[in-house]
Amino acid sequence: MQINNLSETPSILNTYMSELRDKDIQKDSMRFRRNIERIGEIIGYELSKSLHFEPHTIETPLGSSDTVLHKSDIVLCSILRAGVPLHNGLLNYFDGAENAFISAYRQHQKNPESFEIIVEYLACPSLEGKTLILADPMLATGQSMVATFDALKPFGKPKDIHIVSVIGAQQGVDFISNAFDEDTKLWIAAIDKNLNEKGYIIPGLGDAGDLAFGNK
Ligand code: URA
Repeated sequence: MQINNLSETPSILNTYMSELRDKDIQKDSMRFRRNIERIGEIIGYELSKSLHFEPHTIETPLGSSDTVLHKSDIVLCSILRAGVPLHNGLLNYFDGAENAFISAYRQHQKNPESFEIIVEYLACPSLEGKTLILADPMLATGQSMVATFDALKPFGKPKDIHIVSVIGAQQGVDFISNAFDEDTKLWIAAIDKNLNEKGYIIPGLGDAGDLAFGNK
């Protein structure tokens, strides 16, 4: 897997990331959602540089102009519910994408002893020969991402796979590196060092789903 850690180059992304992590600013759930969406837009722009483009000529009112247009069939798949704002940010850029949604949650929430991933809902178009973008803002253990990919396998073999995340734990990044092939690209805004005993990223930002959708 190829890892693109966008925090390695200082940019406006760092400002949005600081706001996301700040326990006072993140109380504003509309701002929290919008910051995740903005990060999705920035990652979408970076990711777009690795897509397939073909030459194209357009007619302006005053002449013709040579350009390139991206020619990938994109399927954007996000994991409910925390993936929704990240999905929206990516969709703002890839507005012609098809969309897939999956619910994958940790059994841990019902049984503190268990880290088993439960998939209950899945809606997905054919993936055969397409560019698959998998979005999950928090890459903690990496198990939801791998369970999602396994659940998508009956829908066909994508041409290429991009994983988009906001914050990952090093352990989760290592886990998915072993599960996806070497051509898969990870686009991530930060990699933190630790996971706590409940599987939360440290320092991370807390529970992204609760912060985005207001469960206090
Ligand atoms: N999911 C979250 O929302 N936060 C974490 O730290 C880990 C998983």
